[in-house]
Order: sequence, then C-alpha cells, then structure tokens
Amino acid sequence: MRSKIVAGNWKMNKNIKETNQLLEELMKAIPETDAEVMVAPTFVNLATAVTAVKDSSMQVIAQNMHFAESGAYTGEISADMLLAINIDTVILGHSERRAYFGEDDALLAKKVVAALDKNMRIVFCFGEELEDRKSGNHFKVVESQLKNALFALSNASWDSIVLAYEPVWAIGTGETASPEQAQEMHAFVRTTITNGFNQDIADKVSILYGGSVKPGNAQEIFSKPDVDGGLIGGAALVAEDFAAIVKAI
Ligand code: PGA
Repeated sequence: MRSKIVAGNWKMNKNIKETNQLLEELMKAIPETDAEVMVAPTFVNLATAVTAVKDSSMQVIAQNMHFAESGAYTGEISADMLLAINIDTVILGHSERRAYFGEDDALLAKKVVAALDKNMRIVFCFGEELEDRKSGNHFKVVESQLKNALFALSNASWDSIVLAYEPVWAIGTGETASPEQAQEMHAFVRTTITNGFNQDIADKVSILYGGSVKPGNAQEIFSKPDVDGGLIGGAALVAEDFAAIVKAI
C-alpha cells in the first residue's frame, strides 16, 4: 500500500507568531487519519514548529536545502542542519525554486543525492508549464524532469522518495488540473518509473498532486487511483481549509 500524504507548503508566509498560531489551529482541526500530514513552514520557524507539534502526528518538513554538507554558501541550509532539529524530509524541485532561483535538473539531481546520502526523505516536485501543455509537450517535459534528476538513483532510494506533480499553470492561479488530467499524468509517471526501474517501485511510490487544491476540489482529485494525496499551497495557510483537505483524503 502506498502512503497517502497531504503536505502543506507554506512558502514565504507566516512569521513566528503566526506559525505557532496556525499550528495550534491545525492540531485542533485536523481529523484522525491514516494519511501522513506534513507542514513546511519557512526556515527560521522550523525548529519552533518541530517543538510545537511534537505531541501530534503532524510532520514538519523543509521547503528546500543545499547539496553541500557545509561551507561558504551564504543564505543556504544543509541537510545536517535540518536533521539536527529533527527534520528528515525536504521538498526539492518546487517550480518556484526552478523558476525564480534557477534550479535546474542538474542541480536538483545533486540535491537529491545529498538528501538521500543523509537518509532524508524527499518530496520531489515536477510539472510542465502552460506552453508545454498547449503544445502537447507535457509528457515529454515531465519525463525529462524525472529522468534528469532521479533516474541515476538506486532502486533502494525510491523508498525515500515521494513525487509531487505540480503543473506550473495550476500553482497559485486558482486553475486546477482536472481530476482526469491529474490521473492521466500520474499514470504516465508510474509507467515512466516502471520503464526506468520496475513495476514494484512504480506501484509503491506515492504521487501527490499540487496546484490550487482546495476543500471544494480535493475529494474528486484524491479519488483518482494514481493520486495519493496533495501538496497544498494557499489552502494550507487556513487551518479550516487544510483540515478539510486532509479529511478529503
Ligand atoms: P497552490 O500551491 O496550492 O497555492 O496552488 C501549490 C504548491 O505550490 O505546492
């Protein structure tokens, strides 16, 4: 059985006070669930967040990390720094990192290896841009993102990988991929992994959908057979909405 996962990516939102408040609200609002529930506050609030949720089943994860162990990389955060505050999961390859901070497949491949070397779990994001979809290149783009960053890995590495398909045109735009579009791409991703590795790995990897998931559309998206949960942006900042999305899974 694949893990069901709902992860909230808070991006550059919520100061320390607001972080504590939202976590309090979430701990009250989130229903009992078999799904894994993750939240990714901003770096400066991670340690506080870990302490705040220690008696709940919510996991605090990071939004990004650097590939180097340590050194002269001003403004960056290492895997060891995350592990030292009991964070063992990191989002890598978010489209905002790719678009605004120049993170390309080659860099992401290095980050993936660095995280795996430290036994971290990765939520690896990928997805096509609007032009790719309009020109019918979306499958090709997604396939190359996966191949370039993940296909040199060992089979065993896949135990530590969660995938998140996030079509760029659906992120923060209010426009969601239809449940059918999400299912179609998730099934394609599983086939791609079957071809590159094997069926067992493809069957076991959780594939989340991200891009304008809201309480009103979550259930239909999550009902698709190859959609194992969601990576939630805007709606993760409102406890009631995030809780409703967790309930939908
Ligand atoms: P959104 O963001 O839910 O606000 O579209 C999703 C994401 O960026 O992970």
